[in-house]
Amino acid sequence: MSQGSPPEARCPGPSARDILLADPAPPPAVLLAESPVYLGSDDIAYHEYTSPDFLADEYEHLWSRTWQWACRDEHIPEPGDYYVYDIGDRSALIVRGDDGGIRAFANACLHRGTQLKPPGSCGFSRSLRCPFHGWTWALDGRLTEVPAEWDFPHVAAADYALPELACGRWGGFVFVNWSDTAPPLDDYLGVLPEHFANWDLADRYIEAHAQKRLPANWKAAAAAFLEAYHVMETHPQSVRTTGDANTQYDVFDEHVTRFLQTTATPSPHLADADRPTEQQMLDLLLARKAPDDTIPQLRDGQTARDGFARFMQQTMGARYGRDFSHLSTSESIDSIEYFLFPNGFFFRGLQFSMVYRFRPDGHDPDHCWYDVMMLRPRPPDGRPPDPPNPTVLDVDDSYAAVPGFSKSLAAVLDQDTSNLAAQTRGFKASRKPGQTLGNYQEVRTRHLHDTVKRYIAQGKSELAQSS
Ligand code: FES
Ligand SMILES: [Fe+2]
Repeated sequence: MSQGSPPEARCPGPSARDILLADPAPPPAVLLAESPVYLGSDDIAYHEYTSPDFLADEYEHLWSRTWQWACRDEHIPEPGDYYVYDIGDRSALIVRGDDGGIRAFANACLHRGTQLKPPGSCGFSRSLRCPFHGWTWALDGRLTEVPAEWDFPHVAAADYALPELACGRWGGFVFVNWSDTAPPLDDYLGVLPEHFANWDLADRYIEAHAQKRLPANWKAAAAAFLEAYHVMETHPQSVRTTGDANTQYDVFDEHVTRFLQTTATPSPHLADADRPTEQQMLDLLLARKAPDDTIPQLRDGQTARDGFARFMQQTMGARYGRDFSHLSTSESIDSIEYFLFPNGFFFRGLQFSMVYRFRPDGHDPDHCWYDVMMLRPRPPDGRPPDPPNPTVLDVDDSYAAVPGFSKSLAAVLDQDTSNLAAQTRGFKASRKPGQTLGNYQEVRTRHLHDTVKRYIAQGKSELAQSS
């Protein structure tokens, strides 16, 4: 996929692809695929972050008609289990039926509108009973009870089934879409099924889950996780062991982008004199993971990538009772992040195995909610442990409080979110009306904004035609 004209400038030095090609355990073809795209160099107007009207347009034209992951299968494993996914004023009640199928209903009573289940809730119910007057629906949405039925001769059960929303599943995730004309989820997913064909996210469980309120528009918060350009300044502890300027960015289709950031390689920014040896990189990477006297010594010619990948395969294999020795070097240690517009970040890797989700916080353009889940391999018997309740963090709370998050992960996430309040203030204080993006390293942020604006323009155009 290539749009626009060059520039095709890239960071000098080895590319992510060069590094993968030199690995002793070669990567699958999908990790060698490249799809660089030039989408232009115009500034992105700050009002796309700060304007309540722009947010209202997003709700009306984008969140109303895109596929969004709402929960995992294991949130609702048994008939009667439900999960509520909210986006702005919309609320989906996702229910496992007696037939084992999963359905999504608009979370509102057909009597006088009361929400059937509270926002963000997850639980078990034999039926869907409204807490106000007790109208009741079966798990498949059939109306089964109207108290004082004599007063409602005009209510025929056949006309009062709970309205269903489009619902689909991929990779152990349940997706919903509020549009009656939504494209099939499989079409919407673009390259994802192909790229995850040998990396089954359904074979994972949620080990840890944090839900944090962030002081930024949802797009600004998401953008902090769409590029590695910030690593040098925001995560200085990582530059000796992490590629940054040579991270690969791919735009695959309308809804899917990716970055591939190598681990156990130094930042190309480092001067030769500051570049660590292979053994020093391995020592740095394992400093928090293993006692000093157990850190392996690399053989002659062995790379830190190879040593670290083997260490990860062995320690994760022992921890989760699985054999990972067949994995490529890259899949074992690299940060390989796919973004599915508008709310899904899925990692394809053994070490980095997060899932993110960003959503606006109600009608406030300056705040959003950020979910971070750690997905880990299911036990050998395939039965996932129960999902943890999310640890809810407010703006100033640290990720260090989240059970299951390592100190280093918490520190990185705290760094990632530490710039957001200043950025939001700067959007409003700026004399310059927009932000200036890098052509290559920040192309995924441009793609995000382009896609938002395409949905809004399309929605407005359809409205104009129908009026
Ligand atoms: S509002 Fe639901 S039963 Fe009355
Ligand atoms: Fe970061």
